[in-house]
Amino acid sequence: MKTAHNVSQQSTLAETDFSHFSPRAYLDEYHCDWDEEDEFLMAFLHDVYQYLDPQRTLLEIGGGPTIHQLISARNKVETIVFGEYLKKNRVEVKGWREARKGAFSWDVYFEHVLKLERRSHEQSILEMKKTLRQKLRFIVPCNILEARPMPFMPVRNFDLVSVHFCPESITSQESEFVAGMRRVISLAKPGGLLIMSFLKESSMYAVGKTNFCAFPLTEAKLKQTLAALDCEILHMAHGPADPTRNYFGTISLVTQRRCASALRVV
Ligand SMILES: C[S@@+](CC[C@H](N)C(=O)[O-])C[C@H]1O[C@@H](n2cnc3c(N)ncnc32)[C@H](O)[C@@H]1O
Repeated sequence: MKTAHNVSQQSTLAETDFSHFSPRAYLDEYHCDWDEEDEFLMAFLHDVYQYLDPQRTLLEIGGGPTIHQLISARNKVETIVFGEYLKKNRVEVKGWREARKGAFSWDVYFEHVLKLERRSHEQSILEMKKTLRQKLRFIVPCNILEARPMPFMPVRNFDLVSVHFCPESITSQESEFVAGMRRVISLAKPGGLLIMSFLKESSMYAVGKTNFCAFPLTEAKLKQTLAALDCEILHMAHGPADPTRNYFGTISLVTQRRCASALRVV
């Protein structure tokens, strides 16, 4: 039985220093047992990508050690740039891309998407993985708390930006949350779409024995922030959370950066 769901009793202080983040502890905590949070998020992403027009570039921000959020995107985009702050998370994702021995298995997630796409006879899990691996072209450093979040990436106007549990999950400060959101949004081209998920009203979340701090985001604050940053919400859905977790559900949404947006990174 997994007991790690609870915010660790051994630490009452939440970490902001991500050098204490363990990719394997995170995968174990959130991606080893299929649960209702996975069910919700994978269905949400399937629905969104199903109706999306084909796009050229997708930027993933703060992708962590995970690739499940990109499975449904694989047939709608040509190139995926995977931005992540920690080298050890980028190594984990590179390990999956290169099908290295010991890489984390996302097969349960691929199987679920296969069923959602009703492709059981036309397409195998192997083909799905091959397509995603080919499109996952760049795995690069990214820091949304810096003025230049992606110094090694010349492209700064992506057709699509995907960010799940990042700007609210790396700080307890409202000012840093808003600044992070501004940088995330500024990386989408004007008129571009952002597909995002957030923890709802959480001040910390567990990764193994370590608790990381979060900004306690409400739906009202999220709507206000997106409006102030020139974004229009096109679709929003509320996801469940295991009652033993230290957050009260999740919010997933699709938002569009306004065509006339002149947002600048600061
Ligand atoms: C809660 S995890 C989310 C991981 C993944 N997106 C998911 O959906 O499971 C937060 C991620 O943000 C990354 N992160 C931490 N500080 C960051 C920063 N300043 N800029 C961008 N990402 C950061 C962490 O390394 C971690 O991978």
